[in-house]
Amino acid sequence: MRLKYKRAAAAILAMITLSGCTGRQAEEKLGSGDMPAGTVPTVTSLWCEETVPDTVTEPPVTSAPVTRGPEGVTSATETGEGYTVYDRSETRYSTDTVNVRELPSTESKVVGQLNPGDSADVTGYTSNGWYRISYNGGTAYVFGEYFSEIKPEIQEKEIVIPEGYYFDDPSDYFFIVNKEIFLPEDYAIETDFVQGSYELEMVAAKHCKDMIAAAEKDGIDLKVLSAYRTVDYQKKLFERNVNSRMKDGMTYDEAYYDVSINVAPPGGSEHNAGLAVDIIDENHWDTYEDFENTKEFEWLYSHCAEYGFILRYLKGKEDITGYVYEPWHYRYVGVDYAAAVMASGMCLEEYIGQNET
Ligand code: DAL
Ligand code: ZN
Repeated sequence: MRLKYKRAAAAILAMITLSGCTGRQAEEKLGSGDMPAGTVPTVTSLWCEETVPDTVTEPPVTSAPVTRGPEGVTSATETGEGYTVYDRSETRYSTDTVNVRELPSTESKVVGQLNPGDSADVTGYTSNGWYRISYNGGTAYVFGEYFSEIKPEIQEKEIVIPEGYYFDDPSDYFFIVNKEIFLPEDYAIETDFVQGSYELEMVAAKHCKDMIAAAEKDGIDLKVLSAYRTVDYQKKLFERNVNSRMKDGMTYDEAYYDVSINVAPPGGSEHNAGLAVDIIDENHWDTYEDFENTKEFEWLYSHCAEYGFILRYLKGKEDITGYVYEPWHYRYVGVDYAAAVMASGMCLEEYIGQNET
């Protein structure tokens, strides 16, 4: 069996420089030795800001304030910190994958996401350029620039695998990327769209799209929350999470450890490989833990292997994977392997380790 993970294993452990931390320190902190064997890590927060991927279009942090309402609307109906809301009643369509927020500001909490073509009932327009919309039985905000009166046409195209592609055998997808085994330097993928602006490696993308479509046929609405991430973005994600935990009162070491069991180091993430997708349902944008108890999770758990995906970070295997249980994270390993891995009850490290000899 040709396993590219052997190539990955031989790859140099990336020396990562994180803020306030030399490359050497970072490597030590990120190693599995950081977590005592057999100990389930204490999870202080599952919120790892994965809802703000770089593929989501966001408005500039400071939108120029508008001092009057939209044409024809003169009455301010609500005021908040730094903005006024003017009533409106119309339907608008999202032109991109955009965050839906609690308040009209990029600093505000993300409560959901709209994909290109999704419609929304607009109930107001804010003086700082956002739309107030009806959302999940309440009110939320989306930046105005990404809303159109006309529904955008979504072009579906067939995925064609180029000749001489990096993955030239189905077994090539069956490898480990983790805190110790980083992607090889020559790792190269072609990506394609899965949902909205989210992309995966093209074979994984095709299977993931098929999985989402099959779920839909069964009345299950799956929402992609994160997919392919660049290594550079992974670095930013890691740093941002450390910083936000420190803002919430953790010391640097506490924050670093807490992030390291939730977010992979740059180059050591399956998202960087384009082979991992985070999927949840509309009601679990900020409380991922509950996703396990949904019909969407039940469907994914039962069917993911048919499309070559496995649930990667298992409950009870935290000391081996190095990560908290993630019912939302699915890894493409290929249809030839996924069912056996899922049926084994083992995590990928155990399964590949056992079948290697
Ligand atoms: N949350 C997983 C471990 C990642 O960042 O790849
Ligand atoms: Zn993930």
